[in-house]
Parts: sequence; structure tokens; C-alpha cells
Amino acid sequence: MTHAKKSTILKSLESFQEQDLNTKGGNVWAYVYDSGIREAEEVAMEAYKMYADHNGLDFTVFPSLLKLENQIIGKVAPLFSEEAEEIAGSFTSGGTESIMLAVKAARDYARENYPEITKPEIILPSTAHAAFHKAAHYLDITPIIVPVDDEFKVQASSIEKHITKNTIIIVGSSVSYSHGVCDPIEDLGKVAQKHNVWLHVDACIGGFILAYYRKNGREVPAFDFTVPGVTSLSVDIHKYGFAPKGASVVLYRNKSFRKHQFYTCTNWTGYPVVNTTIQSTKSGGPLAACWATMTYFGSEGYKKIIDEIYDTKQKMLEQFSNIEDVYILGNPEASLITFGSKTIDLYQLADDMRGDGWYVQLQPGDETFEPSIHLTLTPVSKNIVDEFFIQLRTSIQRVKENPRQSVIEQFGPMLQQLGEMEGNMEPEIMQNLLQAAGVKENGQLPEEMATINELLHLLPSELTSEAFLHITNELFTTE
Ligand SMILES: Cc1ncc(COP(=O)(O)O)c(C=O)c1O
Repeated sequence: MTHAKKSTILKSLESFQEQDLNTKGGNVWAYVYDSGIREAEEVAMEAYKMYADHNGLDFTVFPSLLKLENQIIGKVAPLFSEEAEEIAGSFTSGGTESIMLAVKAARDYARENYPEITKPEIILPSTAHAAFHKAAHYLDITPIIVPVDDEFKVQASSIEKHITKNTIIIVGSSVSYSHGVCDPIEDLGKVAQKHNVWLHVDACIGGFILAYYRKNGREVPAFDFTVPGVTSLSVDIHKYGFAPKGASVVLYRNKSFRKHQFYTCTNWTGYPVVNTTIQSTKSGGPLAACWATMTYFGSEGYKKIIDEIYDTKQKMLEQFSNIEDVYILGNPEASLITFGSKTIDLYQLADDMRGDGWYVQLQPGDETFEPSIHLTLTPVSKNIVDEFFIQLRTSIQRVKENPRQSVIEQFGPMLQQLGEMEGNMEPEIMQNLLQAAGVKENGQLPEEMATINELLHLLPSELTSEAFLHITNELFTTE
């Protein structure tokens, strides 16, 4: 048999990766979670390899997968409940899947218990992760969006005001991705109990951090099943559990709620399908790697590295307080820092830092939120705090000295034209606008993203979505 050479294949992949930012070392302040412990990664990768071709579709054929999953749930549940034996859960591929499953469970629970609800609604703080919007979209549930206060937290009274006879689920974050703050879960729990409605806590990004801060004796708000009224909770182990990607858990107060998450199909000609999660065939790799990572760190390992993140956060907040041009938004309660500025063009700042190999995440903002920059702190951040602030100051200086042309000046008439078209947008106008902003015909984005980012932010949100769909449809090709 002729086949490509292993070395050539791997070299190709290495050369493709040169386009990407480095996932190790901490310069990328979002998306990646480097524990800095290389042995932990090695163990995880070995475990991944051992299980890559095991199929989680059928736990009767691969019972060891069932065992691994049960043990993971057994380790995660006590982090969030004093009555962990009652808690039931599932291992999923990520935060979005955990959230979609919890929302599906709430919907199907409502279908069984409140059949009179035909147009179900989900109440979301404006800071709730996009995954809830996606769940609502996929599951045909109407999202009701509730504004947050000046500290970026939703008030339980605002949620309560929107509860109707169609409400099937309300949501709070511990903590929110955009501003890193906890919603008042205790108050939300009271509202949930009063109205007998499902409360989901999104602890995807904050769960491990808050649980281990608490174990380390630090003060954290009540944010989990310790609060009466919380029905389900999502927590990602591929974030601050430092497992390779594809690792999250969704938990329920007890099995009677989880049951509504599952899906079975016996109504076809093949094998009986019994799916606990969205995927049917699924690799055992992420599960085994997650189990290996959690076993490697153990409670003591997590306590240590998560406490280091706390120290880094404090140190960074102090350094931020010495920079006049920026200020922190909200009170960073876990491991995320978000800053704003009245004097600096943050769109340009993000580009400038990227040019020097640092990825900080621009949050473009909307009518109610000012643009901001999000930083996800990880254990390796501690090694680069000083470098980061040198870079930040340099970039701030450069941005101040080289202001870019205003987007309104550049594209005002086109924007107005688009605005006037409302629902009847002509695709060529959108294409012209995107091209004028530097998007190539094949959808490829320009290196400097400030202008396109701001432009997208200025468009009405349906047009922004339209633009993203257009760009994405061009980018994914056969090459
Ligand atoms: C609070 C929160 N919820 C949900 C998600 C979605 O998780 P994933 O990207 O793993 O699907 C994230 C991701 O950052 C998050 O921070």
C-alpha cells in the first residue's frame, strides 16, 4: 500500500499551525487554559490516545466509558453540593452542549408537567452566554432578555418581573463570561422557588474557580446547589479543570430532572439509540483525558494552582489601578478581568497588541454596553504579568499617537443606506461595505480588525448577523 509519510504529514500540520497564536505560555488571554504543568498534559494526551477510538455511543459495549463518566461526575458533584449523592449529571463536549442539554431538559420537563405551555420562554440576563440563545433557537423557546445593573449583575426583581405563565426556565451566571461577575444566585433561587420555575446556574467558566476559592477559605457568594431553588448547573472541565478540549459536565439536583435530558429512539430499523447527550457516536478520548487530568491534579493540585490565579488577579488589578487610561468593569470575582476606556480606542488596542503576539479579546459592546477588553487569567499568567503591562502601556501609547480614521467618516453614507433598508437588505451593498472594510472576496478577514469590528458593531444586530453569515459562508470552502 502506498501512503503518505508520517513525517511529511506531521510537518504539514506543524506548518499550518504557524498561522495560529501560541496556546502555551499565557500570551493568548482567552480560549486557552494552560495549566503550565507539562506532565499533566502528557498524561492527558496518553489517556486520549488510549480511548480515541472507543465509542461512547454504546456504554454496554464500552463499559469502561460508563465507569470513567460516573467517576468524573462523582468528583465534580461534591464541589457544588453538600448533598452530592443526590446530584445526577452527564459528561458533555463543552459548555454549549451542557447548556443546550439543561435547556432541553427544562423544556421536556415542562412538556410533561405543564402541558398547557405551548410557547415556552427562557428568561436570560443580558450577560448570559450566547449558548442560551443558541439553545433557545435550536429548541424553539422564546428568549426574554433582561438588563443587568451597573455592576453587570442581573437583579432578581428584574427577572421576576418577566416571569409569565410561559416561563419554563430562568438563568444566572456564576460567573458571566463578559464581565466575570456572579449574578445573585440566592435571590434568583428564591424567585425560582416562589414561582416554581427551573433555575439553571451557568458555572461553565467560574465553577472550578469559585469552588476552589471556597475550599481555600476565600469568600465567595453562594453560587451553586447550596442555594435552594437551583435545578441545574453547567461547569466546564476544559476551562479551569485544565482538561483537553471537549470536557464539560451538566448537573441536576436529582435524577428526576436529568431524565428529561436523554433521548432514545427505537423506532427505526437499526440498533436502539439511547443517547445521554447530543452526539451519538462520540470519541472516548476527551472523557479519558478529562478523567486523567482530574486524577492528576486531585483536589490539592487544583487548590494550589487556582489559588495562584487568585494572587495573579490581585496583582493585576493593582497594576491596572496605576494606568490612567483604563478602568475595570465590575468586580472580577473569579479569574476574568474586563476593562474599558474613555480615552483609548480599544478596537485598535486589541489589534496593536495582536501585532506583537498578544491576544486580548475585544468585546465590541452594543447600545447598552460600552466596548471592553476581556482577559482570561490562567496559572501561567503569573509568569508574564510584568511583560503584559509593559506591552499594554506600549500599545496604549502607540494607539494614542496614531489614531485611525473614524468609521463614521469612512462609511457613514453606506451605513445609512443599510440602516434604511431594514429587512430588505440588498446583498451587494453588504458585500461592498465588507470589502471596503478590508474583507477579501473569499471572506478572509484583514489583519487589522479594528475597522471591521467597529463597523459590525455599528450595524443593527440583524445586519451584523447577516454579515457574519456571509463572511463565514465564504470562508468555509473546499480548499
Ligand atoms: C459562562 C460561559 N458559559 C458557557 C460557555 C460556552 O462554553 P463552550 O465554549 O465550551 O461551549 C462559556 C465559554 O466561555 C462561558 O464562559
